Amino acid sequence: MRNNIVHPGADALTYEIRGIVKDAHHLSSLGVDIIWENIGDPIAKGVTLPLWIKEIVQNVVADDTSFGYSPTAGITDARQTIVDMRTKAGCTLSTDDILFFNGLGDAISIVYSYLNQNSKVIGPNPAYPTHSSAEAAHSGSDHITYTLNPHKNWLPDIDDLRNKIKYNPAISGILIINPDNPTGMVYPKAILEQIVSLAREFDLFIISDEIYANLTYGNEPFVSIYELIGDDVPALVMRGLSKEIPWPGSRCGWIEFHNRKVDSVFDEYVTSLFNAKMLQVCATTLPQQALPIIFNDERYKPHLQAQSEQYKRRATEAYTALRKVAGVTAPKPEGAFYFSVVFDEGALHTKQTLNITDNKVRLFTEEKVNNMSPDKRFVYYLMAATGICVVPLSGFNSNLYGFRMTLLEPDDERFTILLNTITESITAYLKS
Ligand SMILES: Cc1ncc(COP(=O)(O)O)c(C=O)c1O
Repeated sequence: MRNNIVHPGADALTYEIRGIVKDAHHLSSLGVDIIWENIGDPIAKGVTLPLWIKEIVQNVVADDTSFGYSPTAGITDARQTIVDMRTKAGCTLSTDDILFFNGLGDAISIVYSYLNQNSKVIGPNPAYPTHSSAEAAHSGSDHITYTLNPHKNWLPDIDDLRNKIKYNPAISGILIINPDNPTGMVYPKAILEQIVSLAREFDLFIISDEIYANLTYGNEPFVSIYELIGDDVPALVMRGLSKEIPWPGSRCGWIEFHNRKVDSVFDEYVTSLFNAKMLQVCATTLPQQALPIIFNDERYKPHLQAQSEQYKRRATEAYTALRKVAGVTAPKPEGAFYFSVVFDEGALHTKQTLNITDNKVRLFTEEKVNNMSPDKRFVYYLMAATGICVVPLSGFNSNLYGFRMTLLEPDDERFTILLNTITESITAYLKS
């Protein structure tokens, strides 16, 4: 190349959740039966949708307009449905404060791409990699994080957050993922209030990714950030259809911009996001047309409750099984559908293995694990020995060693077997 055409942040674009898939497929070609526990896709795990939701989508697709473009900001009916939801909850929002995207993946990419290169957004550690990678890539420097503490039920360390904000003047925003991926932690109201106070004190905006807002099941009631920001702290609330309907293939998500007009710089930034979306023309039309019909159907709330109940049962069973295992900490999730397990400090070393009976599989694994982070090494042995494909926590931009599994397995018996295999494998690996 005559010039270096590579973006300075290109190295930051990593996504371990899918990165591991290539090697999993190779193991599969060698005869290992892979159990996909890496991706948060309920449909891929065999969850089936209620007939009434499918009928709504069928009716929408029968209308030719669902094949056309839609307005850049989103279909008016869809935006009005969201405004009505917020108005009922006592929040002032206008349809002009909502922008639709092709899933939150698209929204996240645009949000960080159009942020001034010298501005940083501090996010949680462990971090959902789409945020942390996109944030790091936009500025060409490491993503700055605040600690979620596994020994305190994954609660954020507010002192750490405050110090990082104070000593990194480039930090212009705080990211929270609530309920969180990968920990399943739901931010308590008191913690959110402290985060809002920090934003107010240091003149920052907040990004609150609430894609799992309707999937909570713990003691802590879910509180959206818009309920706490008053009329002075600017915030982006991210929501989508992927997890709660669940309809990840719809590629449909949106951002609500709260307190947009209180700061002219924030307002200008938001305008740039609308303009950036305009260059892409619009988000996918069909799911936006289905959204108002699904959300306003009286069966939707019970549908969400039933899903949350199911994840609660899974979370309780996983927690009960893992808390007995020596060498790990695994706080009980209260929302979303993930379960993260952290190895005790010093528990992992490079001599540990699991018994792999097939020679080719063993040789492939031994070659692969050279120079790997210790938790990824465990993940590769687990996959080779049992077929279970989870994601190492180090793949979540974290300095903790552990892994994330999902609570998505729809079959009770299979879920119990999965848990037993994982707990036995941890014990065997740590003892080897
Ligand atoms: C916290 C979080 N935000 C955003 C996304 C992306 O969602 P979408 O399917 O809308 O792109 C995910 C997907 O797993 C997620 O876990």
